[in-house]
Amino acid sequence: MLNKLLIPPIFLIFFRLLKRKRFKNISLYNLYDPIFSPWKFTKSKHDLQNISEYEKLDLLKFEELRNNVLGITLVSNDRLWLLYKLSQNALLLDGDFVECGIYKGGTALLLSEILKSSKKSQKKLYLFDTFKGMPKTNKKVDNHQIGDFADTSVGSVLKKIHNPKSIIIIDGKLPNSIKKTNINKISFLHIDLDIYSSILETLKILYKKVIPGGIILFDDCGFISCYGARVAVNEFFSKKKEKPIYLQTGQAFIIKR
Ligand SMILES: C[S@@+](CC[C@H](N)C(=O)[O-])C[C@H]1O[C@@H](n2cnc3c(N)ncnc32)[C@H](O)[C@@H]1O
Repeated sequence: MLNKLLIPPIFLIFFRLLKRKRFKNISLYNLYDPIFSPWKFTKSKHDLQNISEYEKLDLLKFEELRNNVLGITLVSNDRLWLLYKLSQNALLLDGDFVECGIYKGGTALLLSEILKSSKKSQKKLYLFDTFKGMPKTNKKVDNHQIGDFADTSVGSVLKKIHNPKSIIIIDGKLPNSIKKTNINKISFLHIDLDIYSSILETLKILYKKVIPGGIILFDDCGFISCYGARVAVNEFFSKKKEKPIYLQTGQAFIIKR
């Protein structure tokens, strides 16, 4: 009888000891660190262990895209990963891709490659920038100055993009430059404009064109250098059903209802 009572607890103790051995050398504090950070992916054995063929191809594709935009984009790898994944999901939806804030074309190149990877897609990618740098900024909330990011041009961006048929570059100041296009439905909108009035005024026009289920990703809401971006996003969505989801990366996104 006593034996019967003791066996289960002994098993439990043995099992716990085994488990502890597996986590030896890892402090309690670090046990809940994520061990899968695809934005840091390398082709090391460790990263490629126990994953499906699909996941392997997906990670290799991301690595290729990440390497292609290295030195062209201001956007860090963890933010590129979210841009990659969210835009990839939007491929299944009806509507075009739009990016506001191109600078040297890094994230635009990534988006153009995502479109290219979907052979069936007839989507267009609209790219908006002044290509002369920042317009007038608001000293109360913006840290950028007029003319920041002027060292670029339409020609230099076009040279980097290998899928020119589906790309439409609109050179001019937002939101007025939107009038030069006939964008109808948007499935994915990437806003990387950094400053208050550019973001607010652009949202006022493009938000309506995003289809239900479509995604708006803001690159810069969480950064002190782009405080005006957060003010604009919060002001705009305070009157809308969607509430922006802020991410650890500094980005925020909404899914249109
Ligand atoms: C941070 S940069 C974009 C970075 C880019 N996505 C990358 O991959 O590195 C911000 C860009 O927004 C543009 N911009 C800001 N306000 C604008 C406006 N009202 N109209 C057009 N472009 C604007 C600037 O010219 C600048 O090139």
